[in-house]
Amino acid sequence: MAGQAAVFSPVSQSQVDWLGTDPIPAEPFYDPNFYELERQAVFLKSWIEVGHVCELPEPGSFIRREIEFAKASILIVRGKDGAIRAFHNVCTHRGTQLVEAEAGRQSTFSCPYHMWTFGTDGGLISAPDFGQFHVAKEDCSLPKVAVEVCAGLIFINFADRPPPLREWLGDLADRLDAFLVARATAFHEYVYEIDANWKLTYDNFQENYHLRFIHPRSGGAATGPDNPFGYPVRYGFHGQHRTQTIWSNVSAPPPPPAAMLAYAAAGRAAAVNGLGLNDAKDYIALFPNFFLFGSPVQHFSHVIMPIDATRSRGVIRVYWIGEDSSASESFARELLMATARDIHAEDRAVIEAGQKGLSSGALKHIHFQTQEVLCRHLYQQVAAAVERHQAQNVR
Ligand code: FES
Ligand SMILES: [Fe+2]
Repeated sequence: MAGQAAVFSPVSQSQVDWLGTDPIPAEPFYDPNFYELERQAVFLKSWIEVGHVCELPEPGSFIRREIEFAKASILIVRGKDGAIRAFHNVCTHRGTQLVEAEAGRQSTFSCPYHMWTFGTDGGLISAPDFGQFHVAKEDCSLPKVAVEVCAGLIFINFADRPPPLREWLGDLADRLDAFLVARATAFHEYVYEIDANWKLTYDNFQENYHLRFIHPRSGGAATGPDNPFGYPVRYGFHGQHRTQTIWSNVSAPPPPPAAMLAYAAAGRAAAVNGLGLNDAKDYIALFPNFFLFGSPVQHFSHVIMPIDATRSRGVIRVYWIGEDSSASESFARELLMATARDIHAEDRAVIEAGQKGLSSGALKHIHFQTQEVLCRHLYQQVAAAVERHQAQNVR
């Protein structure tokens, strides 16, 4: 791989000294009061990834998302004009949830209670016996939520005046545009719930220190004699976001034939779409809770939504360009998703065990080593957002 030295040497502490070496307080990983601050300071003010444009192929296509941190149900709809809009899934008559289906295609949305009917642009089209009301139809549109798309990924933001998404993403916006996800037309998905704080869950996927202990078999390609912990080649810091380049053991045994089939087909589709291997093995971690692994042949995203202080829901997706062209390709794609799921199953128990320990309150602090610096950076970004929020509220 380009840029990978013959003999591995890990990123040195001097390169990440600017992030400090102090222990990290344990309380933010279990305390409901800290979670309440995070909800307000981080989640209600950040761009949050909720889906992909391939889920909204036509006018009237919609998806519904339950967003626990906002106590909200959100409807994301492609309008007749092709534009994507997001609304609270709340009828403006008396608040009934409009849509029960998780996804579908409709030209209008009718409330089951008294049949107020809304268009794909959120406007109230009709309401039975509306002359009896004391309000104008124009004032009865569904409440809007900010929504923007980058690289095919749909993000929403609950803030009143959020910064433009591309500004929020900074230099990573162009990188995302060059990735396969921007041209994806299909995906496999695995959704899980876990008894763990969202940061604890997320941190598991931004350090390799655990690989050889938790993934002794599945992690074979990521560790090797001169890199026994499988540490990354490089870390990158982009404002609140971060990146890392994964090291590969070039002498690891090849994946099973069916996986090779999926890799080859994905590689061909990527090449047809002008995607090279330049960004292979790069993880992009978007603040606060989204990852994308950019390899053209094994392209996956992972978002971790907080449910409460000690429970989270993760959504892992493997994205593809084009439909399966054969039964064996279909099988190969399923196999790659199943493999990701197996690896995740290995992580799950240890993350929940970590939560049990932390929730006991026995520890005042936890410790991140040099090669856990991405976990340190996430914590610092969260703490800084909480501090800014508290300072604003004191004024
Ligand atoms: S609450 Fe929706 S029409 Fe009455
Ligand atoms: Fe893991």
